[in-house]
Amino acid sequence: MELELKDVCLSAGDHLQLKGTVLHHADRFQIDLGSSADDLALHFNPRFHDDQDGAVLVCNSKSDGCWGDERREIHNPLKRGEEVKIVLKLTGDMFKVELPGGQEMQFPNRNGADFISYVRVRGDLKLSSFKIS
Ligand code: GAL
Repeated sequence: MELELKDVCLSAGDHLQLKGTVLHHADRFQIDLGSSADDLALHFNPRFHDDQDGAVLVCNSKSDGCWGDERREIHNPLKRGEEVKIVLKLTGDMFKVELPGGQEMQFPNRNGADFISYVRVRGDLKLSSFKIS
């Protein structure tokens, strides 16, 4: 599935809550926050059989279409076929991603973006709810 929102305005203190089911044969999905598809402050990308690490959480940023340095978390609590709730919190200098089981992954706001105007969710997740608060 793919959900793309343009011209939203999210800033520090805002939360994005997603619920959905990871597809049975999921390879990967991603939640992107930024100002356009080429400029992402956060690319949150759970993978289920990455060549290097198998099931892994990958985070990165993208500027003018170029990826930055990846951050990887080898413990991926998301499982194929399961219902999941993911909450992304904007704090200003960091993005915090709350995952099932109480795990949290953090990623720095590398370019110091003050607000997020572009949100995209795509890949092997069947989204059942999406909430901004
Ligand atoms: C690349 C992949 C992109 C993105 C990026 C993150 O290898 O093709 O979709 O996930 O890694 O660093």
